[in-house]
Amino acid sequence: MPSYKSPRGTRDLLPETRAGFSRLEGIARSLAARYGYREMEIPLFEQAAVFERGIGAATDVVEKELFRIAPRTEDSEAWALRPEATAGIVRAFVQHGMHTWSQPVKLTVVGPMFRYDRPQAGRYRQFWQWDAEAIGDAGPAVDAEVIEMGRRFYAEAGVPDVQVLLNSIGDSACRPVYLARLKAYFADHSAELPELELRRLELNPLRLLDSKDPSMKALIAAAPMISDHLCEACEAHFTAVKAHLDAMGVPYRLEPTLVRGLDYYARTAFEFYRQGAEGQQQALGGGGRYDGLVELLGGRATPAIGFALGLDRVLLALAEVGADAAVEVPPLAVVAGADPADTVSRLRVAALLRAEGLSVRVELAPRKLSRQLETASKEHAHFAVIIGDELAEGNVQLKDLEAGTQRLVPLVDLARELARAAKSHRHG
Ligand code: HAM
Repeated sequence: MPSYKSPRGTRDLLPETRAGFSRLEGIARSLAARYGYREMEIPLFEQAAVFERGIGAATDVVEKELFRIAPRTEDSEAWALRPEATAGIVRAFVQHGMHTWSQPVKLTVVGPMFRYDRPQAGRYRQFWQWDAEAIGDAGPAVDAEVIEMGRRFYAEAGVPDVQVLLNSIGDSACRPVYLARLKAYFADHSAELPELELRRLELNPLRLLDSKDPSMKALIAAAPMISDHLCEACEAHFTAVKAHLDAMGVPYRLEPTLVRGLDYYARTAFEFYRQGAEGQQQALGGGGRYDGLVELLGGRATPAIGFALGLDRVLLALAEVGADAAVEVPPLAVVAGADPADTVSRLRVAALLRAEGLSVRVELAPRKLSRQLETASKEHAHFAVIIGDELAEGNVQLKDLEAGTQRLVPLVDLARELARAAKSHRHG
């Protein structure tokens, strides 16, 4: 027999980890509701052109990491698994004419994304993001609001020491001028550039600032920075974003080399970072303004900003500080029986309680009552409902496993009694 495994770079989220994810998703949904973002779903795959055009054909995400789906017939369109949510959300914004809705349209998606990257700690081929987008607001106030919401997520999740890195990468007025300068600068130093960076220089010179190659460090430090080349409008926007953050008491660090890996950005760009235990820096989340994307995907010119926070990395960060324990709630009661063979009565009583909204487990294994009660205690159930001869008169034994007491309760009152106990207790 072959031994099957989950594909490289993917993970099964076993119940304990899934509970951790659910907790994070709960915080994300609660924040989205508090900040006025409405949850939606987009497909896990799109026409590949949505990503090629939206994210940029020369980005790593599209060029190297896109999971392309093999066409099923000759005439079927080219599809790819979503590497992120922004392009798909904007595609949906245009498709459903959301420009006629009250602006800004604030949308959120929580779910898995796919990138064919080299797997390592904190980098997976299937990973989860909480994505939030505010479409139709030119800022600068909403820029600060989005950043503050992201920071609050980490605070509520319990991740310590998350830093906001902030930059402005200019717009279509000032960036081309800057890019020409940057290109000229690196071209002057082309003899010192590694092969990969030489290729990037042609396609996307901004990405050189993001190079992880240690030999690039000094060159990058001396390169012209976009922050010194912003046009007046971008400068004013950036100043106002910072002023709003200051006024809200949101700390940030200006990072002139922060350029982001996707092509759609303009002006505000930011990332959430945490220094990892092994010193490796990994972005926990990132985002920025993408004022040209709606138009690029066929809509009318609409300013927008958003972020995506990587949930896998948040869980890793929580595990590092020993704060990842998500609470799995034990059942309120276990339905047990004195007659190991009588699964009918146990199942009937359990169904009755579940119909009343109570969380109960029912013992279906034919084993001795003492063993059944042992298991119930081990899993921290609060009560055991014991079914015995009393059932003939419409009664059951209700054993409080925490207090160690036991009494006879009419079956008709059982759900109400348990519900009352659940309310006055941590269960439920
Ligand atoms: P991104 O920076 O590509 O931005 O991804 C956001 C976050 O997703 C990263 O900071 C990281 O935490 C997580 N992430 C990315 N790739 C992986 C991976 N292979 N494994 C685990 N986690 C990963 C975006 O995706 C943009 N759509 C953000 C955005 C929204 N900008 C505007 N609106």
